[in-house]
Amino acid sequence: PVIARAYHEKVIAHYERPRNVGSLPKGDIDVGTGLVGAPACGDVMKLQIRVDDNGIISDVKFKTFGCGSAIASSSYMTERVKGLSLDEAGKIKNTEIAKELALPPVKLHCSMLAEDAIRSAIQDYQSKRAKLADTTQKSF
Ligand code: FES
Ligand code: FES
Repeated sequence: PVIARAYHEKVIAHYERPRNVGSLPKGDIDVGTGLVGAPACGDVMKLQIRVDDNGIISDVKFKTFGCGSAIASSSYMTERVKGLSLDEAGKIKNTEIAKELALPPVKLHCSMLAEDAIRSAIQDYQSKRAKLADTTQKSF
């Protein structure tokens, strides 16, 4: 009953009042966008990060078209990564989210979506920076 209650309260809290819902301008050079889907159910999660000059995540937004656990997982993830370096953020595992929100086994893939989404956002940001470095170099 204790676990069931923890599941209830935390998931419901993140589900009913998800934090950091919205979008960042995809074209901004300091914004990374991750867009991932769950093959198991077809749900989709978009997660975006803004990275400051020191490589720290200064802003995070998400939009999730999916179940309550997926929404709760993305909401949790946005709060978790704000203020972290890209390295730290890339190491967050879905098992941590699942444990925090006490997700049942059938809902593990919902938290996996959040892990995939942050990784994909980091990758997008890094490939943007790499391209920028590339064009800057070529122009000299
Ligand atoms: Fe995706 Fe639940 S199966 S909404
Ligand atoms: Fe598919 Fe939650 S993301 S059931």
